[in-house]
Amino acid sequence: MAEHKEKFYLTTPIYYTNGLPHIGHTYTTVVADVIRRYKRMRGYDVVMTTGTDEHGVNVERAAKRAGVAESEYVAKMAETWRALWDELGISADEFVRTTDLQHVRTVQWLFKLCRENGYVYKGHYTGQYCIFDNAFVNDAKSGDNCPDCGRPTETITEENYFFKLSAFQKPLLDFYQKNPEFIQPETRRNEIIAFVEGGLRDLSITRTTIRWGIPVPGEEPHVFYVWFDALTAYLSAVGGPDYVKRGMWPADLHLVGKDIIRFHTVYWPAFLMAAMLPLPKQVWAHGWFLMDAAKMSKSKGNVVLPRPIANMLGMDALRYFLLREVVFGQDGNFSYDALVTRYNSDLANGLGNLSSRTAALIEKNFEGKIPQPRERKAQDDALAEETQTAIDGVLEHYEKMEFARALEAIWAVIGLADKYLTSEKPWAFGNSPEEQERKGTVLWTTAELLRIVCALAHPVLPQITGKIWTLLGQNGTVAEMALDGLRWGQLAPGAALGKAQTLFPRVDKTEAIERIEAMANEELNPTPTPAVVTPAAASAPTGGAAAVAPAGIAQIGIDDFVKVEMRVGQIKTAERIVGADKLLKLTVDIGTEVRQICAGIAQFYEADALVGRKVVVVTNLAPRKLRGVESNGMIVAASVGPEGRPVLAGFLEDVEVGARLK
Ligand code: MSP
Repeated sequence: MAEHKEKFYLTTPIYYTNGLPHIGHTYTTVVADVIRRYKRMRGYDVVMTTGTDEHGVNVERAAKRAGVAESEYVAKMAETWRALWDELGISADEFVRTTDLQHVRTVQWLFKLCRENGYVYKGHYTGQYCIFDNAFVNDAKSGDNCPDCGRPTETITEENYFFKLSAFQKPLLDFYQKNPEFIQPETRRNEIIAFVEGGLRDLSITRTTIRWGIPVPGEEPHVFYVWFDALTAYLSAVGGPDYVKRGMWPADLHLVGKDIIRFHTVYWPAFLMAAMLPLPKQVWAHGWFLMDAAKMSKSKGNVVLPRPIANMLGMDALRYFLLREVVFGQDGNFSYDALVTRYNSDLANGLGNLSSRTAALIEKNFEGKIPQPRERKAQDDALAEETQTAIDGVLEHYEKMEFARALEAIWAVIGLADKYLTSEKPWAFGNSPEEQERKGTVLWTTAELLRIVCALAHPVLPQITGKIWTLLGQNGTVAEMALDGLRWGQLAPGAALGKAQTLFPRVDKTEAIERIEAMANEELNPTPTPAVVTPAAASAPTGGAAAVAPAGIAQIGIDDFVKVEMRVGQIKTAERIVGADKLLKLTVDIGTEVRQICAGIAQFYEADALVGRKVVVVTNLAPRKLRGVESNGMIVAASVGPEGRPVLAGFLEDVEVGARLK
């Protein structure tokens, strides 16, 4: 019989589609992904949902500006969000869009339940409304600005359906008291209790001034107001009216930013109480990532994008930084400098170096097989004990959402292993049987420590720990490890190591930051595609395939052709680019000067073999940055086969460098 697993249902907020994802949104989604992985390793049947919040006046306006229908606009934006989470390896198990039919049905059903139970009435409302936050601003007067975003409010009077929030003051306070874990962290809980104690006003839950929303059945032009619509997504993601069948509701954890805690801990439980549905178990509010002490926004020009960082340093590095740098629940400052510093010290020099060093020594001394530990010394036992104790500590920190402390504890163990290796010096031993035995014990000890570190760090660093797991010759995947059974001493001797690979190449801080910023700039202000697209240009950013000329391409006259200057160039140097698997950075002599050019050929050409080779260069192409590296020209290549393998154009006869192609 299949083992029964306890369920765990967690959610991220559903993101507004009138903006694009930045590091703040990525933070919430990364944390959810970390918890999901952690809970799975503790044996839970986990479902994580995310999605997009697609209704409201902001979308109406954004679609208008873009000159497209709202449905088309949101479909494209939802795809952008979904694709980014896929690319970053943090896609949820369910992605809800508030325009999904299932969601529409759920919102209408929830409304019906609230109404049947006597908690909905029709009335008029005049108030100050912030269209950016999609919320009426309580107690604001005409001319006041929104206290959250600082923008001017608008006075709005309209017929609304109201939800009797006022009836839930006592039930909510009782609920908070009986469920002290419901609102986290503690400071937020106190804030919310004080807010509810101050009295609750009824809430307008429909609008007639907005068109783009879920219709209230039989009551058009009423459409649901944003929060009644949005919060219900958590329920529609796991079955909506049929939630019992799916077995996931109530949610075990809603992860939110501090700005939306009130909606989640006051409105949402009140809606559910009114409908007599089970309430979520916990809402956890994290702080904000600030840039130059301000909340990120495109208008302030201070947004940090996740993709350039993931491209340059790897997604694991970004995940590590987000969780390690800031105490979960508090605000923190984002800085590229701190990011790269942590990358080099904790990842490249810390975990990366320890893993590579251990593997290389085992390779060299034990034919690539995990050695047999022999007689233990006090220092071996001490390290084993420290590591064993760390396991319990780390699990407790994860449980309490103390991610920074969990990582700190794991890295303390890595530090101990570094010291242990430095004092034991296994590389300095000779090959006598005794020395070989001691070497084996020391290296087994370090490898065992690494195995445990891998399992503990896996929720935060899924890719790298997977690689180290394979490097250590372990069976299965690290994700399958049961954290509850993790103990010192389980590393079996004799396992053959996997192939060595670079885990975290060290980077030069200034250059890395420059490249991340250049990539971000490219993403925010994309350069228009050049008029002439030749194979190398088309393939350069992603590497691999060269563009195939579309059938029926327009003919050009000789006047157009002569505008393209192509010359014979000779490659002087070629190197791989850290963070861009497909690109090579070349310097090419074109007769009059030596140019730096990037080419998307790294998967097909060895850098060293290219030096001295003569190639065709488009020399008058405007310079551009590829993955943050300046490229001044383009190498011409044919595109071969279905994957568009680039084959460099060249000459059968010797040709002079700088000669023009005509
Ligand atoms: N659509 C609503 C949520 C509805 S949930 C039923 C919304 N969307 S949002 O796109 O504006 O924000 C989503 C989440 O991203 C919020 O939790 C918010 O706190 C978080 N962040 C946005 N910027 C942030 C930072 N700079 N730092 C950390 N998180 C931030 O609100």
